[in-house]
Amino acid sequence: MTVTVDRSVEEFTAAPRQLFINGQWTTAASGKTFDTPNPATGQTLARIAEGDAADIDKAVGAARRAFDDGPWGRLTPSERGRIIWRIGDLILEHAEELAQLESLDNGKPYPVALAADIPLSADMFHYMAGWATKIEGNTIDISVPYMPGANFHTYTLREPVGVVGQIIPWNFPLLMAAWKLAPALTTGNTVVLKPAEQTPLTALKLAELIAAAGVPDGVVNVVTGFGETAGAALAAHPHVDKVAFTGSTEVGKLIVQAAAGNLKKVSLELGGKSPNIVFEDASPAAVEGAANAIFFNHGQCCVAGSRLFVQEGRFDEVVEGVAQIARSIRLGPGMESGTQMGPLVSDEQLRRVTGYLESGLADGATAVTGGTRHGDQGYFVEPTVLTNTRPDMKVVREEIFGPVVVAAPFSSIDDIAAAANDTDYGLGAGIWTQDISKAHALAKKIRAGSVWINCYNVFDASLPFGGYKQSGWGREMGHEVLEAYTEVKAVTTLL
Ligand code: NAI
Ligand code: MG
Repeated sequence: MTVTVDRSVEEFTAAPRQLFINGQWTTAASGKTFDTPNPATGQTLARIAEGDAADIDKAVGAARRAFDDGPWGRLTPSERGRIIWRIGDLILEHAEELAQLESLDNGKPYPVALAADIPLSADMFHYMAGWATKIEGNTIDISVPYMPGANFHTYTLREPVGVVGQIIPWNFPLLMAAWKLAPALTTGNTVVLKPAEQTPLTALKLAELIAAAGVPDGVVNVVTGFGETAGAALAAHPHVDKVAFTGSTEVGKLIVQAAAGNLKKVSLELGGKSPNIVFEDASPAAVEGAANAIFFNHGQCCVAGSRLFVQEGRFDEVVEGVAQIARSIRLGPGMESGTQMGPLVSDEQLRRVTGYLESGLADGATAVTGGTRHGDQGYFVEPTVLTNTRPDMKVVREEIFGPVVVAAPFSSIDDIAAAANDTDYGLGAGIWTQDISKAHALAKKIRAGSVWINCYNVFDASLPFGGYKQSGWGREMGHEVLEAYTEVKAVTTLL
């Protein structure tokens, strides 16, 4: 049985989708379009305008004017906050429609999109709306030793960075747009957003909702297109003051280089190879926890618990338990009821993930379960558990971004911190034990931005999220993100 697609969703995907620039829907300057496929079938889902450097330039111009002269900067913080709150409300009002578009475009099960992606996206706007009235500076009593006897009145102002370019990936298309847009708007910036070419639909729907919420023209512009053209033009544009990127570490490094031209500010949320550590004294819930840590969103999570470490005495039991869950997962189209895991997002990701599986098996790893593509239609991969790996294998060192976990035993807490940190990444980590002192002691030793104890993949708009090492620069969410979207000005008056 298939979930019935709403009429509004059918209409949305039937019409060619345009770029959203300065409050207007417009075709790409080149007139070009590209197709976004349904990953469950490989068939075309919708036709999308293919923006490139010329469209980015137009959008940046609109964002620049909206920042420099537009009404956005003249709104009171309270007015701005209420508009941002309304975006959250509109997301909830359109929850089914957005969840269907997300499921069709990305492949994730519709109930998951409806229960997780959509409410989390709304919550991001609701949480950030409250900060609009709470952006504060300080007064500072300064000493200035070379001006004896002088008195000053000195304070800081926290101001928007300006025009922000935002480039987002396809694994949580709407949520990534929300993580980026909400704090940028709260702090008074204007934005050009470049969604991932694999999943442009919900960002375009969100642009409609943002306009309906009362965001003035030019404040949010959405340019769909490819990374090497539209994305690269945005990262390099001289009139963009900041670029915020989520995606691969490889492209993150290109963003840094592109940003060097005008030294725009950069924040990056990149890949991971996160350790999930199960001690012998863990509760039985650790088995399901370890399976969810890797299989949620088909492993297409930057924080996926992709390196499972289990203390020796329970290695066989935990690995077999995770494998059993893997075997029981029902694969199918995201819009089919009963589906627990959908396809990977694209043919490219299918090839990338199966390439890793081949490399791991050729290097001598054992597939306890899975290890191959599933079926011959759509981009499905079997949930896979690999053992007998070595720390130098590609499957252990590199981000696979699919439903593939490598499992290895460890003996003591002294060994496990070093093994967990033996990676270029530092995004997340899980610890499963009933000895909470041990958990906190290990949490401190792990070089990663998020550590979950007896849980995994817990996200909240109020919790800062980001990476150590090559997992990124800066933090998203929480009040920490406000720093990434503001400049601080020190104003000094000689009295
Ligand atoms: P990607 O990093 O190439 O794409 C992410 C975004 O960056 C997309 O919007 C894309 O259009 C844009 N982009 C690509 N090249 C660009 C460039 N030169 N300049 C500016 N923007 C550019 O990721 P891709 O190719 O979709 O996936 C490859 C691998 O990246 C995955 O297998 C996974 O390992 C990792 N990845 C990590 C994500 C995360 O959340 N940390 C999300 C998506 C992918
Ligand atoms: Mg790429």
